[in-house]
Amino acid sequence: MYSVKEPDAGTPERKSSEQVTLEIDGRAVTVPAGTSVMRAAADAGVRVPKLCATESLEAFGSCRLCLVQIEGRRGYPASCTTIVEPGMKVKTQSDPLAKLRRGVMEMYISDHPLDCLTCPTNGNCELQEQAGVVGLREVRYGFDGANHFKQAEKDTSNPYFDFDPAKCIACSRCVRACEEVQGTFALTLQGRGFESKIASGNTDFKSSECVSCGACVQACPTATLVEKSIVERGQPDHSVVTTCAYCGVGCSFRAEVKGSEVVRMVPNKDGHANHGHSCVKGRFAWGYATHKDRITKPMIRRSIHDPWREVSWDEAIAYAASEFKRIQAEHGRGAVGGITSSRCTNEETYLVQKLVRAAFGNNNVDTCARVCHSPTGYGLKTTLGESAGTQNFDSVEHADVIVVIGANPTDAHPVFASQMKRRLRAGARLIVIDPRGIDLVRSAHVEAAHHLQLRPGTNVAVINALAHVVVTEGLHAESFVRTRCEQPAFDKWKAFISDPRHAPEATEEITGVPAAELRAAARLYATGGNAAIYYGLGVTEHSQGSTMVMGIANLAMVTGNIGRPGVGVNPLRGQNNVQGSCDMGSFPHELPGYRHVSDPAVRALFGAAWGVDIDSEPGLRIPNMFDAAIGGSFKGLYVQGEDIAQSDPNTQHVFAALESLECLVVQDLFINETAKFAHVFLPGSSFLEKDGTFTNAERRISRVRKVTPPLAGKADWETTLALAEALGYPMQYTHPSQIMDEIARLTPTFTGVSYARLDELGSIQWPCNDKAPGGTPVMHIDEFVRGKGKFVITEYVATQERVNRKFPLILTTGRILSQYNVGAQTRRTANNTWHDEDRLELHPHDAEQRGIKDGEWCKIVSRAGETVLRATISERMQPGVVYTTFHFPGSGANVITTENSDWATNCPEYKVTAVQVSPTTEPASKWQRRFGEFSEQQDALLPQSDPR
Ligand code: SF4
Ligand code: SF4
Ligand code: SF4
Ligand code: FES
Repeated sequence: MYSVKEPDAGTPERKSSEQVTLEIDGRAVTVPAGTSVMRAAADAGVRVPKLCATESLEAFGSCRLCLVQIEGRRGYPASCTTIVEPGMKVKTQSDPLAKLRRGVMEMYISDHPLDCLTCPTNGNCELQEQAGVVGLREVRYGFDGANHFKQAEKDTSNPYFDFDPAKCIACSRCVRACEEVQGTFALTLQGRGFESKIASGNTDFKSSECVSCGACVQACPTATLVEKSIVERGQPDHSVVTTCAYCGVGCSFRAEVKGSEVVRMVPNKDGHANHGHSCVKGRFAWGYATHKDRITKPMIRRSIHDPWREVSWDEAIAYAASEFKRIQAEHGRGAVGGITSSRCTNEETYLVQKLVRAAFGNNNVDTCARVCHSPTGYGLKTTLGESAGTQNFDSVEHADVIVVIGANPTDAHPVFASQMKRRLRAGARLIVIDPRGIDLVRSAHVEAAHHLQLRPGTNVAVINALAHVVVTEGLHAESFVRTRCEQPAFDKWKAFISDPRHAPEATEEITGVPAAELRAAARLYATGGNAAIYYGLGVTEHSQGSTMVMGIANLAMVTGNIGRPGVGVNPLRGQNNVQGSCDMGSFPHELPGYRHVSDPAVRALFGAAWGVDIDSEPGLRIPNMFDAAIGGSFKGLYVQGEDIAQSDPNTQHVFAALESLECLVVQDLFINETAKFAHVFLPGSSFLEKDGTFTNAERRISRVRKVTPPLAGKADWETTLALAEALGYPMQYTHPSQIMDEIARLTPTFTGVSYARLDELGSIQWPCNDKAPGGTPVMHIDEFVRGKGKFVITEYVATQERVNRKFPLILTTGRILSQYNVGAQTRRTANNTWHDEDRLELHPHDAEQRGIKDGEWCKIVSRAGETVLRATISERMQPGVVYTTFHFPGSGANVITTENSDWATNCPEYKVTAVQVSPTTEPASKWQRRFGEFSEQQDALLPQSDPR
């Protein structure tokens, strides 16, 4: 039988330059100082029996099963808590040890239900296994006395796992996993000795602090904590290593499969981004892949008011191609375009942009990164020379000061947040710059040294004030700047930033951040040791998003916090493959590897490889496509895996644009909001159904491996190939590995990347080439990619979106742990248990002034539109600022966001919308009612075989 248990050395690996040699059962073994005897034994090939120890957790020493004998020492010390010493002589097997271990095991078994044959973990239970290892053959004690299993009640409240205390051996692995790995501290071991029991506070799991990361389930050696999917479907028979398709952390998982059905996703211990940890989305929320809403047959229709007609793949592809050709013949080559997805693989994204450039013959390709991290690309390329984060995640373990700006890692990047919190618990100091009191500001054993609770839209004023303090107080890294940065640009910037108008005292009124607090934060960042900045969409989704990214780079350069572990500028990417979709040439002005289409040499390279002439004019960005569609010059669009109707700002404008198209081809898993305007629907394949790669926020390329066959018969890359062929541009690939080989041939930062190399190394951080054959965890070490770092003037310009008497509040938006992006995947899972609607969060003062009660409906009106949401009153907000998530299409969050955007990249200003909020008894706005009716009409047009 396939074993779900991976080899486990019992205690964590230690890193030390000092080596210790000892003898175990007569065998010499050398290990780093600080290693446990248990781990040293494992290194020597000797498995000491154990129950409470596991290598992902610090040793606890409670079960007494791992006893050993050590020459010169009295008694029988526990090998998991005993640290190696030079010359130690350890004996792991002897008659007294065997007897002791059997005695211990006998006690456990006498208090355990003997229902192995019907237990969900039968065959993969550590207690069962260890009973065999120690040779327990009989239990002398009866089962009549006091025991736990008779009274204990099961807790089945969590939608993904059960807790059956009858089977608990009080080993505390779950408690320690929750503390050490996840950092949530939701579990406790209550009572002592026989009375010991595990509790999730004074409530059930669902109502507790638990965030359903699954670390405790993973750690449990018995069936006490076990996945419902395993209870319902049984144990897996094989597994496939793949990469999570949710956020930009890019966790590696073992997809465990029974037959052709996934029964569990287990975080991969060898995953370089997650080291065996996961969050509720990747670990449990994969059921969407087989949800009944999946559309598995291609469909076409002439008009969006016609019923959909299920057709063969050939007919759908031929129809889409003929429509694109007709539109180009009638309206010109530039009348069509494509949108790539940050949820699709690198190979798929590469193919879509290649199709647009080679088969459509224009550069009208854009990606959803337009609406999230395009300013990161622009800002970091300009200042540092590369459109990507500078560090690997593990770098945070060397940080002394961590700055989190406009990001909410515990919700949006949970596994990295756990790693960051571990570092904070170990003593690193934290600065949070955010309008909202995110969890990191104060949570179990973590507290920010400074929370700069700025007003939305004033980021640049804050970053300038921080840099002003550094420069004017002489805290800058002179020699770093002198040797690593462009001197004239620095001199100019220094004069600019030293101006008293950037002083915290001068900006306090604009930003709302007390000057003394800001000064203290600046001093800590500049002088507190290694300082690392992590930022998110709260930085980029502003009219000055690119300016802010450059301001961050300026601050990192002026303090010398670039180019070594523990420092750097780190964008936390929202979706799984935002980095990759940008790398693959998804922007209308750049070919793969961020090379401008206006460069003749670059065009010649790709043109020769693809056998076409590449247009030298940058194509349309998404907002330009919308405007051109409404204006009548843009008529056809191929959208792969994106829901622009829900995710782009000013929904009514987007709807109008989509309605104007003559041919909208949507390739997706579900009829999403965009597909309701489509003429051709091409069924997509989930991440479980295809091969490819994703690139996470740390530039890490990881394999996505096919676990089950594509439900609709084609993987997404095959669909794009078919469309290209029908357009008259056949591409010759028989496997995604060949697409990656082409990417590597044409892209200098990917030269050394291949599927074989990825299989060998597990994952690779680009650049990967002759200079860095193993990849590049930390960038800009000796010099910046652009040579010298460039300081850029970052003048603060207030957004046009001003509050006034009519719109006195600022609305800002964000994510929640259990839902993901437009929610198309997570809304189709039990994650709705925690968040089944978007709500408006507002400060008690603002609520009281308006007579708004918690849980009641309130109307939100902006200059762009209005919507109705339920209110949540929360002290997390500052007065004057309200907040919502955007995971449900009917919420209409983007009906109220405006068309303002970043000056350099058009990234929408989602984070600042002036609004008024008032109580209402109507649960829907006019738009929401219209939207509801339209959705119902569209549902009715679906073929009968797909009722919803
Ligand atoms: S699932 Fe995660 S958060 Fe919840 S109790 Fe277990 S370890 Fe803690
Ligand atoms: S629930 Fe599992 S991990 Fe936790 S104490 Fe009980 S047996 Fe150990
Ligand atoms: S942290 Fe991100 S990548 Fe990791 S499991 Fe969660 S959603 Fe997936
Ligand atoms: S494994 Fe060492 S005491 Fe439990």
